[in-house]
Amino acid sequence: MGALGILAVLLCATCHVALSFTDGLMKNGNFELAPKPEDMNGTVVLGKTAIPEWEISGFVEYIKAGQKQGDMLLVVPEGAFAVRLGNEASIKQRVKTTIGMYYSITFSAARTCAQEERINVSVAPDFGILPIQTLYSSNGWDSYSWAFQADYDLVEVVLHNPGVEEDPACGPLVDSIFIKALYPPKATNKNILKNGDLEEGPWVPNVPPYTGVLIPPNIEDDHSPLPGWMVESLKAVKYIDSDHFSVPQGKRAVELVAGKESAIVQVVRTIPGKTYDLFFAVGDASNSCEGSMVVEAFAGKDTLKVPYESKGKGGYKRAVLRFVATTPRTRIMFYSTFYTMRSDDYSSLCGPVLDDVKLLSVRGKPRKM
Ligand SMILES: *[C@@H]1O[C@H](CO)[C@@H](O)[C@H](O)[C@H]1NC(C)=O
Ligand SMILES: *[C@@H]1O[C@H](CO)[C@@H](O)[C@H](O)[C@H]1NC(C)=O
Repeated sequence: MGALGILAVLLCATCHVALSFTDGLMKNGNFELAPKPEDMNGTVVLGKTAIPEWEISGFVEYIKAGQKQGDMLLVVPEGAFAVRLGNEASIKQRVKTTIGMYYSITFSAARTCAQEERINVSVAPDFGILPIQTLYSSNGWDSYSWAFQADYDLVEVVLHNPGVEEDPACGPLVDSIFIKALYPPKATNKNILKNGDLEEGPWVPNVPPYTGVLIPPNIEDDHSPLPGWMVESLKAVKYIDSDHFSVPQGKRAVELVAGKESAIVQVVRTIPGKTYDLFFAVGDASNSCEGSMVVEAFAGKDTLKVPYESKGKGGYKRAVLRFVATTPRTRIMFYSTFYTMRSDDYSSLCGPVLDDVKLLSVRGKPRKM
């Protein structure tokens, strides 16, 4: 155990109960508990511990829904309050974790100025730089996820704006921060893919903006908020649930929201010469995402294009890609051929839904190569 670990244990001797968490909202994760008026100067928060349950550093503002910035009306998706992280500002909270376990963080964010805004979310020694430049939803707020493996039994979750703009009040708004333990599923004899049903993933908030949760680009599989899967493309994929969307199977699925820039990948062990079937479902989320869609499935060098006519009202079809493995490892990948916008606002990115992905070897002797 490192010095930090020992320190964590000592600190935790007095705060064990208070720090334990269950899946869901982090403490004051929606910022509805306000700083005292004497700890504020206008919107600027003074004092490291002024926001209940959080520790801040730098230029952090406490924003009320409906507040104006220039001509812009600041919208808060959930409740009445959010925070804004100015230049180099951060907020953090300590969380009790189990060493070796995986956790996902989900939070809502919106950019407020035209500059390229990013959020650095970290739990030492891991961090992820999440770009919040692309607007996936028309109201400006999107929900993002990130995952980490706990190295200590007490960790600090930090959200930091690494940007330095001329106007210190430029910076992302943040609200609704959730944490959830992840239980990465294993491959079984019923499915060579891990988490093929996509049921294990980040917390999907049951609060506005109800847009589903983005799994950011360039996510590697060891720290994926969608265990087993990587997002290798430039843009995010969206994780959606059956409470707010139509999904083909179970409670959760993935929406491929940015055409060929939004791909999910899993590399599986295969036996060269053996025949495999890749089963999957393609549908729409019942979110006014209409039109002719195509999902492209890849298994090594083999591909299958699955057309799907969406009326934007839900529904799905099943497809299967049969292939003969040529290598001991085969890359399974899916993306949407086209970009689609929701017909109710013409600005939110949307796309076909992928779910219930299953990979099985076809019985019979391997073919001689
Ligand atoms: C409050 O902000 C104003 C300008 O924004 C500044 O002049 C003043 O010194 C600040 N007060 C405190 C207590 O920081
Ligand atoms: C992100 O945060 C981590 C942890 O604080 C830090 O080590 C890393 O340098 C930061 N990255 C950027 C680009 O700010």
